[in-house]
Amino acid sequence: MNNETVNPTEPVISDSGLPVSVRVCDSVRERDGGMMMRAVAYEVARPKSALQVVDAVVPNRKAGQMLVRVETASLTSLKRRRRIDMAKGQRLFTSLSVPAYGIAGRVVESDSNSKFRPGDRVMSHVNHVAGEVCAEFAVCGDQHSALIPETMPMDEASVIPMAGAMALQAIREDAKVVSGDRVLINGASGGIGALAIQIAKQTGAHVTAVASAANEPFCRELGADEFISYQDMNFTWNGTRWDVIFDVVGKASFREVLDVLKHGGRYVSTRPGEDPTLVSWFAWLFSKTGTAMDLRPNAEKLDELIQLYENHRLSIPIDSRFAMHEAADADRRFEEGLIRGKVVLLNNF
Ligand SMILES: NC(=O)c1ccc[n+]([C@@H]2O[C@H](COP(=O)([O-])OP(=O)(O)OC[C@H]3O[C@@H](n4cnc5c(N)ncnc54)[C@H](OP(=O)(O)O)[C@@H]3O)[C@@H](O)[C@H]2O)c1
Repeated sequence: MNNETVNPTEPVISDSGLPVSVRVCDSVRERDGGMMMRAVAYEVARPKSALQVVDAVVPNRKAGQMLVRVETASLTSLKRRRRIDMAKGQRLFTSLSVPAYGIAGRVVESDSNSKFRPGDRVMSHVNHVAGEVCAEFAVCGDQHSALIPETMPMDEASVIPMAGAMALQAIREDAKVVSGDRVLINGASGGIGALAIQIAKQTGAHVTAVASAANEPFCRELGADEFISYQDMNFTWNGTRWDVIFDVVGKASFREVLDVLKHGGRYVSTRPGEDPTLVSWFAWLFSKTGTAMDLRPNAEKLDELIQLYENHRLSIPIDSRFAMHEAADADRRFEEGLIRGKVVLLNNF
């Protein structure tokens, strides 16, 4: 996106209702009176279908939203994405879906009273039901977006709205970690875990990281005090007890970890199928709280994470970068294992 081609004060709307400014992008073409772009999507109803490049309509923004030309999108594994779809009944409502929520890009068009101006670099948490994400353009809510500081590369910025916000919410809001807590992070070297280690350490916690043995140096570099390889030991059997267990990877249920949670301990899971009712019932019975996480995205979380980054208290590891047309290869990266940080897609079809 070239800044000179967008006019911050007078967005011009085409006959089809879309901003004329999107026409400046070579990749966008007009078809049947509408503007078409490329997007990465998967078929919700066909469990074996892979990520593929499809033509999609450039989304229309409403008041309070902006149209953003995506530069990078952070990826969630398609296998897990499908589990979330099932848990949320997504299958009933959509046929084609996109696998990421966090994007970074440049504003093409915004409300005249928005703090975001055309040309600005922004990061945003995008609800994929409302707009395409792994695509050339996305519609982003002002309330779920933040300006990207000059010092932050776009690929790192795209990790903050989902993985960063999940890690922050889990540690600060859901688990309410305080200084001195002993915190175990199950799935510590991936997109969410790598950030959760750092946030827990800053809160003054003692952190045990769980991942495969080869990821021990990576987790220790991020600040983990102790490390357990899930290949060598089941952490629920090693006799240690923790104040907080953050099950990032969704492999240990509340029931399974009850014995290794201290009295008053807190369990937080990202597992889509974790039943919140069961979790509350167990919590009441055993004086240990459990939370089946659902991200509450907001700009405050993004601002806090940006501040940590600018103060050199948060690093954002990128495992690998793929062009959007290589999305199926990028997804295979999750099957290979030994993830170190986040997999991101670049808008380079
Ligand atoms: N509820 C929500 O709103 C929500 C939103 C976003 C994401 N999520 C979920 O969050 C989860 C984590 O996402 P992510 O992006 O951080 O995943 P990721 O990047 O794929 O990382 C997975 C991590 O789990 C580790 N791991 C693999 N098998 C394990 C096992 N058996 N025991 C313990 N650790 C194991 C991996 O270590 P090695 O690489 O060393 O094997 C890696 O550290 C996903 O399941 C996703 O569905 C939920």
